[in-house]
Formats: sequence, structure tokens, C-alpha cells
Amino acid sequence: MGLTHQPCLIQADEVVVGKLRLSWQLLKEIAERLEDVFVLGRKAERLCWFDDSFYRLVLPKWGHAPTVEIDGIRMHRTVEVMPEEDAMQKISLIPSLRNATVLDVCTGLGYTAIAALKRGASKIISVEKDPNVLKMAAYNPWSRDLFDKRVKIVLRDALDFLPSCRTLFDAVVHDPPTFKIAGDLYSLDFYRELYRVLNRGGVLVHYVGQPGVKRGVKFYKGVMERLRMAGFRTDYVSFALCVRAVKV
Ligand SMILES: C[S@@+](CC[C@H](N)C(=O)[O-])C[C@H]1O[C@@H](n2cnc3c(N)ncnc32)[C@H](O)[C@@H]1O
Repeated sequence: MGLTHQPCLIQADEVVVGKLRLSWQLLKEIAERLEDVFVLGRKAERLCWFDDSFYRLVLPKWGHAPTVEIDGIRMHRTVEVMPEEDAMQKISLIPSLRNATVLDVCTGLGYTAIAALKRGASKIISVEKDPNVLKMAAYNPWSRDLFDKRVKIVLRDALDFLPSCRTLFDAVVHDPPTFKIAGDLYSLDFYRELYRVLNRGGVLVHYVGQPGVKRGVKFYKGVMERLRMAGFRTDYVSFALCVRAVKV
């Protein structure tokens, strides 16, 4: 996955990697599926499965973090920026995270939570509703720090969790799927909950993407309007495709 390197022994009929012996035929089959990730054991298994939806770990570019696809939809940016860079961009929009308590709405593979840890956050509550995504994160070496003791993962729908949450946060990262898939996570009611759980002066970073951009739609404008109605002061950060909102 580009994080560690291991010497291997190349032989005429197979390649030996640690205790694994991989035939050239198997390696050829793996090499033909450029973006797929394989778990090597007694067999080589493609890291994907079906459970109501189809989940697949996808490596867009060698040496960078993979993304997870749910029914063919990628959960991270993989064209202009790679997933781990995208997470860092989002977190860089928060002025300071030293010793901060952070709410990470939509854990995914944990890249935003991990980026927040790197910037000095001391406690993170990360909310994810889909156990399959967390199972994928457990396989993914790029997600390892998500299982750090400073991160508490809550396996729950954020729409249920937020109204019952009594913790106050210094920052919130809200990284939902598209509006088409998860419209409620873009609603005024939900934004009011995000406002409620933030400390005064706290910053919300909300990834909005750019749905409808080819038709001239400025999707972020509606998001900003609803966030203002919830009480936030807002600005749009185009390079990160995020709205930043401050509880004044
Ligand atoms: C764009 S991904 C998040 C990426 C993540 N921030 C990261 O850095 O890897 C969106 C995630 O939100 C989850 N999700 C969708 N609806 C949700 C909800 N109502 N509550 C909590 N998680 C939700 C999806 O299962 C998916 O894993």
C-alpha cells in the first residue's frame, strides 16, 4: 500500500514475500486489476464484498491512500487531489487544533480524524453509521491511526446521535456523502444541532463538493444560507470544496 516496503525473492516459478509464496500467474491476475487491493493469505482475496451494498477498497494512485467505493461511488476525492491530501486540506481550514476536542461527522476511512490528530487534537468523537465502512477501515493500513485511543468511534446514524450528544466541541468536521445520497445531513435542522454542540468561537468545516457545477449550479450557496440561518458566520473555501462556518 506504499506505507512499508519488504524485500522479496524473485524466482523462476514464484515470488517469495516473507512466509508467502506467490505464483507468477496469481501476480499477473492481481496486476491486471490496477486499482484493486488484495489481502494476501493462503489465497489472494480482492478487498470487496456485498452486504446490501457493494463495498470495495480502491487504490487510485500507487503510494497514496485508497478510497472506499460504496455501490461504485467513491467516498473521497481521487482526481485533482488524493484522499489523504484532501483530508489534510479540510483540517488545515481550522486555525488551531492543539488540545482540541473534535467531532468528526462521517468517519469513513478515518482520514479526517487522523489529520486532526496530526494537527494536535486531543480527543475526537467520530460518528459513522455503516459497519461495513469501519470493517474496511480495519483492513486499511492507511486507517491505522483511526484506532488510536484518543479517537472514540460511535457506530450510529449522526442524525440520531447529534440530538442526544451533550459534549461540546472546539471544532467539527462534517464530511458527508453527496446531497443526493444523504440530503438530511445538509438540512437546517442538522446544522442547528452542529451549532448547538460547538463551543463559541468553534469552527465547522463542511465538505460540500460541487454537485451540478457543469450546469452552473453553486451548491455551496444554499448550504451557506442554511448555516447562516442556524447562527453561523460562513465563508466558502473553493480549493477544498468546503464551507467553513464559525459560531460567533
Ligand atoms: C465521504 S465519507 C467520509 C470520509 C471520511 N471523513 C474520511 O476521512 O475517510 C462519508 C461517510 O459517511 C457515512 N454516512 C452516511 N450517512 C451517515 C449518517 N447519517 N450518519 C453517519 N455516517 C453516515 C458513510 O457510510 C461514509 O462512510
